[in-house]
Amino acid sequence: MNYPLISKSQNNITPNFPDYQKTYKEFSWEKGRKEIAYFDDGTVNIAHNALDKWKGSETEHKTAFIWEDDETSRSFTYGDLIAETNKFANMLSKLGIQKGDRVFMFLPRIPELYISFLGTLKVGAIAGNLFAAFGYEALEDRLADSEAKVLVTTHELEERVKKVKDQLPHLKHIILVDAEATEHGEISYSREMKAASDQFETAHMQESDPSYMLYTSGTTGKPKGVVHTHGDIVQEHITGKWILDMKANDIYWCTADPGWVTGVVYGIISPWSNGLTQLVHGGRFDPDRWYSLIEKHQVTVWYTAPTAIRMLMTNPELLKKHNLSSLRYVCSVGEPLNPEAIVWGQKYLNLPIHDNYWQTETGSIVIANYLSMDIKPGSMGKPFPGIHAGIIDDEGGELGPGKEGDLALKKGWPSMMKEIWKNPKKYESYFKGDWYITGDRAMKDEDGYFWFIGRADDVIKTSGERVGPFEVESALLKHPAVAEAGVIGKPDEVRGEIIKAFIKLKPGQEGSEALKEEIQKFIKEELAGHAYPREIEFRDTLPKTRSGKIMRRVLKMEELGQDVGDTSTMEEY
Ligand code: WTA
Repeated sequence: MNYPLISKSQNNITPNFPDYQKTYKEFSWEKGRKEIAYFDDGTVNIAHNALDKWKGSETEHKTAFIWEDDETSRSFTYGDLIAETNKFANMLSKLGIQKGDRVFMFLPRIPELYISFLGTLKVGAIAGNLFAAFGYEALEDRLADSEAKVLVTTHELEERVKKVKDQLPHLKHIILVDAEATEHGEISYSREMKAASDQFETAHMQESDPSYMLYTSGTTGKPKGVVHTHGDIVQEHITGKWILDMKANDIYWCTADPGWVTGVVYGIISPWSNGLTQLVHGGRFDPDRWYSLIEKHQVTVWYTAPTAIRMLMTNPELLKKHNLSSLRYVCSVGEPLNPEAIVWGQKYLNLPIHDNYWQTETGSIVIANYLSMDIKPGSMGKPFPGIHAGIIDDEGGELGPGKEGDLALKKGWPSMMKEIWKNPKKYESYFKGDWYITGDRAMKDEDGYFWFIGRADDVIKTSGERVGPFEVESALLKHPAVAEAGVIGKPDEVRGEIIKAFIKLKPGQEGSEALKEEIQKFIKEELAGHAYPREIEFRDTLPKTRSGKIMRRVLKMEELGQDVGDTSTMEEY
């Protein structure tokens, strides 16, 4: 089915970014830098832009943060957050934490996560977030590779850390946010915060100095530490302002968890740098609760994800119970947004959903649908000003309209990753000449709109979360019954993809439903709650290359009922 063009917004709010064509032509990042608060010596700090710059202005007294879980709620003004992050920065300084040290947060979505993240940036240390669903192995991989010195966590989550603590010689301090007294030399967050001064001089950083790092998955090997800089703020700020149309009087809700890049950039930094009020929901996804939150807090701008929208779409009746008329703008990211979802938005919210595209590595949105531009449902939109996006062939030549190729960006935008932690070879592998290769396949049409086609590699996107098949396979191999495992993403109507594992059992093992469940539970604990295979199939043999590598491509094609094609490199199967 072909979906008709949706004309640009006709409501009476003037977008912050009213003329795409003109601005795209005239824009330079130097102009973007004018929006940023630099220190007098020309240095910068993300936390200064998100918080300290508001000191002494009216914004200091305004609500920055409304936090609510299923039982309680808390709210903070900009002034409160400035004071709290200063205290946290003092706490870190007292522990001897310096510029460049790694401080990791392993926390659920609670205010302390936001405070410790920005407090860490104030010291000039590198902040890293770990998704609260991570299991032992996922934690060990990330904390060992980053050589984190400090971990901020809760009593409950610390149990998982204890199991791998012996493998982490660099981890000097564990800060517990919910413990007054501590048993094993941990530090009590509340006790130290009470004692700490609320004054702190935020570290002056070069634009090229690291700010935060996040581990993300590729097709092979363990997750890689993608390192970002303080100079990212230019693009973090301006994309929030121009793409998400953040205005000072907005009540903004980004549903992403800060364990993922969207939750860091558009769930911490950009909204506060733009001076608005942001809502954070500490609880789990629940359609009725989500609608109630929009209604109760009169949310105006909502940044969410396709899987969540598709889950909401399954229950249109629920919408009748709620008045969502406060919403003025809805955006989505992380996986393909199907045209039906955009049409649903129009029908039920009276607003089309604006899709946009980026990656952990790009650091900010790079391609988007703008309020001031017609939407072609199913397209990711057009490159942001200052971004040159192209479709390229294997030699790095740019392809014309209508041709499928690798989606690539001309390198050098402000929020482009600075490095892959301790892995320069991997970093270099992202580039071909002047081009940064995204790993996604796409097409550009005659009008300059970009259309997502699929991943060029085996990376899985399940409910918008990025999972590497290698990570799941290695965790599976740790299970005593598993001899060999191949993992693929299987298309799924709601979740985009689900993880499917093909397993060859060890001799003497019997494949059963009970064993499937046991393996699933094992992966949830080892790796992460979201990374377990929802489907498991036992096989007597798995397709392998002559050198013994399991061929995921063949498993995937078989799963999709497609012709397996050239099998000449395959071992007998
Ligand atoms: C996918 C998330 C289709 C893509 C911000 C990319 C998308 C990966 C879209 C990055 C979109 C992101 N349409 N696919 N609008 N946005 N993706 O690092 O495959 O978690 O490479 O960053 O998500 O995932 P990451």
